[in-house]
Amino acid sequence: MDGPVRAIRNSIAVMNTKGGVGKSTLVLALAETLSAHFRKNVLIIDSDSQASISSMLLTAASLHRLQSEGLTIVDLLVSSVLNNVPVEWPRFVVGGVSDVDEARTVYLIPSDMQLTLFEREVSKEELHARLRSSISTLLGNVRGVFDVIFIDCPPGLSILTESWLREADYHFSPTKPDYISTCGLEVFRRFKGLNPEMGFAENLGVCINMKEGHSSVDADYHRWLTSNPENRCFTQTIPRSSALQHAAQLSSVERSYVAKYPGDSGTAIKAIAEELLARLAAANGSAPASGTPPLAPAAAATS
Ligand SMILES: Nc1ncnc2c1ncn2[C@@H]1O[C@H](COP(=O)(O)OP(=O)(O)OP(=O)(O)O)[C@@H](O)[C@H]1O
Ligand SMILES: [Mg+2]
Repeated sequence: MDGPVRAIRNSIAVMNTKGGVGKSTLVLALAETLSAHFRKNVLIIDSDSQASISSMLLTAASLHRLQSEGLTIVDLLVSSVLNNVPVEWPRFVVGGVSDVDEARTVYLIPSDMQLTLFEREVSKEELHARLRSSISTLLGNVRGVFDVIFIDCPPGLSILTESWLREADYHFSPTKPDYISTCGLEVFRRFKGLNPEMGFAENLGVCINMKEGHSSVDADYHRWLTSNPENRCFTQTIPRSSALQHAAQLSSVERSYVAKYPGDSGTAIKAIAEELLARLAAANGSAPASGTPPLAPAAAATS
């Protein structure tokens, strides 16, 4: 007899209340690695008004075109939350992003600066419940279509970020091995504990980024973070490297995975990607589905 169909849990809000810890860089590197090496269909939702991850994946001209044509997360949310109109979400998904030639299955819902104005309207009109339900509907739709969904959140705890954190299946927190970045994790933990009845994503883990190989201070922070089981620290850490620093700059010509993530950087990102898939698989009771082509996205990047 067949058991009940279990919902897929594959949406991950990438979050640290501290800025500049490498959230967007890790979303980019993980998405490209999961696509190139693990054959996963990956959707990135850019929830940062600075549109950092959108600019890492699209040329300025492509991003500008999508913003002018009303095809960003802002337009999707304005329709569903402010105008209360159901949205055809595939219209907002851009395929063919990424400059890594082996990473052909990375998809993006880009962002726009207008996101801050949208959030202001939501607060003014007290539309928090409708925002949360729109986020829930969107995640419900994309969960079955993509293997892994990353939501790239800005630092801080805006009402939009809170909605992702309450509706996504998991949160994943990059941190630098320093005092302020780890305080960012602590603030986040306290926030999570404030209204448990409202629901919250489960911790998929903390990942230490920008670790200096020879720094004893960094090694101490690593040990200290690992010693708290609540952090669920990833075994692998990500080194500070010029390759990862430059990964944010979209290349005008496609390059190979090893050209973008050479040596230790590529090895570390692949190990994190593997660990992340293993954690998702353990939580879902099997390996997350893969290889099924997602819905044909309406928009194709011209990056
Ligand atoms: N492992 C790394 N080695 C070297 N530089 C890195 C590494 N990871 C990220 N960086 C650099 O650190 C800076 C911050 O990274 P990123 O923008 O990804 O952080 P963020 O947490 O998304 O920031 P924000 O909070 O503004 O969204 C960028 O200049 C990026 O290139
Ligand atoms: Mg960022």
